[in-house]
Amino acid sequence: MLKDQINNLKNEAIGQILEVKDIRELKEIRAKFLGRSGKINDLTREIPKLPEGERKEIGRLLNEAKKTIEEIIEETEKKLVKTQKTGEFFDLTLPGIKPPEGHLHLITQTITEITNIFSRLGFRMARYPEVEWDYYAFGGLNFPENHPARDEWETFFIADLYHSKYGKGILTPHTSSGQLREMEKYKPPIRMLNIAKCYRRQSDISHSPMFYQFEGLVVDENINITHLKGTLDFFFKNFFGEEREARIRPYHFQFTEPSFEVDVSCSECKGSGVLESGEICRVCKKGWLEIGGAGMVHPTVLKNGGIDPEKYTGFAFGWGIERVLMMKYGLGDIRLLFEGDLRFLNQF
Ligand code: PHE
Repeated sequence: MLKDQINNLKNEAIGQILEVKDIRELKEIRAKFLGRSGKINDLTREIPKLPEGERKEIGRLLNEAKKTIEEIIEETEKKLVKTQKTGEFFDLTLPGIKPPEGHLHLITQTITEITNIFSRLGFRMARYPEVEWDYYAFGGLNFPENHPARDEWETFFIADLYHSKYGKGILTPHTSSGQLREMEKYKPPIRMLNIAKCYRRQSDISHSPMFYQFEGLVVDENINITHLKGTLDFFFKNFFGEEREARIRPYHFQFTEPSFEVDVSCSECKGSGVLESGEICRVCKKGWLEIGGAGMVHPTVLKNGGIDPEKYTGFAFGWGIERVLMMKYGLGDIRLLFEGDLRFLNQF
């Protein structure tokens, strides 16, 4: 009885396999006959019910049937693959699906770019603390105690952090705090580029409470304003484009004397303030765009840094990475840089 069933099953399977049109159908047949709850297993489950003497023989027949079906399925599969009758069209020439690929953030890219430009002039890359003492950010930079100029920096103070010599603990509001630290560490000639996160209590489309500044400091014998102007020109030409130029205007900082505000020539009107059409330039109005501060290092600051102001002079400049970056790429809102929106970031 069971023997006949096995034979029939085998023939049924073979018959169906021969008619198969694609791999998908073949898979269905394999499951139907050889799968866990397939027909072969159904019969195998009958074996324990048989009288002792028949079990072995039936088991052997079942195994044979299983093997035969398996072999025929395998052969058929090979044939189907060869003749491309897989049912699924596979185009080998299609490009693959690219896995998502990250890249450095625009700010990091810009920091690298700025570092490369200044390293060509021999500037050494420095990093100084973000959590700083009042002394390095203000006191040692010639800010008298309670001087109103301190308010311009809108500093964050850290509760319960106080140093008997260096004063209150703060989040550094500018990279100028690195000037004294660099002078304490190295003797002239000094050529430092200090890039760091800075913090101020301000937030709008062009200010973020956390931002990056880069600070240049050069101290050596016979350093004068022309060295500063030349360095700024070099930076603007390399960062913004060959036709760009720097301009310095008198200004005031506690830690530089004389002090300057630095402008870069406008790319639209080439520094003239007037477009070729005769219209007033709407990007800058006056031909120049304001960038940030600079100046000749104040003798008191040199002294505080342990450097003889009779022998050495120096210049310093410093401003926001985001500012130059936004100018370069024409971005209107600083917050885009900190929101992590991939639709924006992927454009760079
Ligand atoms: N630290 C000043 C600021 O944050 C800029 C500055 C740097 C000015 C170096 C002079 C010299 O605005």
